[in-house]
Amino acid sequence: MPDNIIPASDEAIERAARLIRDGELVAFPTETVYGLGGDATSETAVARIFAAKGRPRFNPLIVHVPSLSEGEALALFDERARIAARRFWPGPLSLVLPRRRNCGLSLLASAGLDTVALRAPAHAAAQALLRAAGRPLAAPSANRSGRVSPTTAAHVLAELGDRVALILDAGPCPVGIESAVLDLTGPTPALLRAGGITLEELRTVFDEIEVPAGGGNAPRAPGRLPSHYAPGRPVRLDAVSARPGEALLAFGRAVPPGFAEVLWLSQSGDLAEAAANLFALLRRLDRPDFTAIAVMPIPDEGLGRAINDRLRRAAAPRTSTARR
Ligand code: TXA
Ligand code: MG
Repeated sequence: MPDNIIPASDEAIERAARLIRDGELVAFPTETVYGLGGDATSETAVARIFAAKGRPRFNPLIVHVPSLSEGEALALFDERARIAARRFWPGPLSLVLPRRRNCGLSLLASAGLDTVALRAPAHAAAQALLRAAGRPLAAPSANRSGRVSPTTAAHVLAELGDRVALILDAGPCPVGIESAVLDLTGPTPALLRAGGITLEELRTVFDEIEVPAGGGNAPRAPGRLPSHYAPGRPVRLDAVSARPGEALLAFGRAVPPGFAEVLWLSQSGDLAEAAANLFALLRRLDRPDFTAIAVMPIPDEGLGRAINDRLRRAAAPRTSTARR
């Protein structure tokens, strides 16, 4: 095992926290996906994150905090934001809020916007790192820009191994799909990205939620590029029968015949299990000997919305940010 990937022990977390305070980058587990973390108050550290990912600088980063109280020092929480944070934090929900003046956050982290996306992750290792570092952590998913998000330390190593000081390994991410991004800067809450907290769960708190057309590819979400999460092979959605040489991502037991290989998101049709498996299985099927990765229809409800959002982007015509 390369020496920059280590189990997320207390000692490793202390080492990671020191690296963060020195302006270095550390990859760490969250309940959603692995993040590429840097000190969100350091313009240099944040610039390193953009460089390591090859991420366009107009796409802002999520800033991670241990809890609501640290979040309140960085952004303006209105009553709606407090209610959402109390209900869903720590957990897979990011809130877009107005930045506080003199919040000390890097401007680049917000890509020059006067808003910031904040999230308190639930994963014990992420919580421990945030508290040990004593800094908010800017952390996008730890993949090259436009590529499939990492849900294991090995994925991070393959994507960014030579560009991070340390990778904290805590096994596979339990949720497996990124946080929901909820914009609370307008009069009506807007779901900019479907994610680990579902629309149905958010509706238990908010009467009205805008879901911008195009699955959240709205001007207020500059980073919602149509082609994203892209494996090297083409992706074909809603497959009900096989085409020559295709591999299949299956959902449920009734699988059409004739595929060169079949891997199950979930045999029992469980959307949480499918979300947890999605990115790892996309990687496993991304082999040059398959003509394409076909995917069976996934119900567009609950976590299925986030899964379908990622699959649509994986299948979209590739832009210059997505490697072919
Ligand atoms: O689950 C997650 O959210 C993971 C883990 C590591 O926490 N992080 C993650 O970050 O997915 P990233 O950078 O891959 O995605 C951040 C998303 C992008 O779609 C970005 O455009 C949006 O959040 N975003 C960030 N700041 C924003 C802002 N101020 N306004 C609107 N959208 C924002
Ligand atoms: Mg990402």
